[in-house]
Amino acid sequence: MPDRANDLIGEILRRVHEVIVEHDVTYEEYQTAKQWFIDVGEAGEWPLFGDVFVEHVVEEQAFGKREGSQGTILGPFHLPDAPLLDAPFELPHRPDESGDRTHVSGRVTGADGTPLANANLDVWQADAEGCYSSFMPGPPAGNLRGQVRTDADGRYAFITVIPGPYTIPLDGPTGKMTAAAGWSPWRPAHIHLIVSAEGYDPLVTQLFIDSSDYLDSDVASAVKPELLVHPELRGDGEFELHYDFALAPARSHAVA
Ligand SMILES: [Fe+2]
Repeated sequence: MPDRANDLIGEILRRVHEVIVEHDVTYEEYQTAKQWFIDVGEAGEWPLFGDVFVEHVVEEQAFGKREGSQGTILGPFHLPDAPLLDAPFELPHRPDESGDRTHVSGRVTGADGTPLANANLDVWQADAEGCYSSFMPGPPAGNLRGQVRTDADGRYAFITVIPGPYTIPLDGPTGKMTAAAGWSPWRPAHIHLIVSAEGYDPLVTQLFIDSSDYLDSDVASAVKPELLVHPELRGDGEFELHYDFALAPARSHAVA
């Protein structure tokens, strides 16, 4: 699609040129920016930069008006092939995993309310200190990552701990950019999910803990009011939270 590429790349460059002119960007600033581009590449942070500062607009543009539950960004910390969990459906964790133990449950339906049996929920999250396994020091590989399936009535349940908020890496070029701009580097506490079922659009989303700090200043701009959840304290000292997911029919089906 040379016309599409010409339009998009040309427009991006035109807007960059306008910023340079309007803000009288100096050679020193240009050289600093050029070195920063190099540093982001060498640090392997382009996926981080894209997912934190760009993806939310793509997601809203692509799926904001879709039927069913709201999605939000995938982010850079998903790993494929998390284990399918057996009862009691507890996400893999350390024996001394800190954080409030929480029972998450709900239902997966189509946008019309049809219960979806055998829908898959791929779940991943940070630990109570805000660390993702395989990406940050602390948790072992596979920690707090797993998949569960719905039963014949579309119901699902899993057990986890309430995650902590976290910052994007502060010592890399993306973190240095946010510091230079005076922006908050924090993401509020959230649980990531991809909910999928045969014949439906996969839903990439996050559930945000409603008592978390940084809900109004998410560095990734991914919070939506429909995605706030309220963990309730049970009599046994553990928490529970509920969320129902409604999936849009797969696009090929929707068009047919
Ligand atoms: Fe996250």
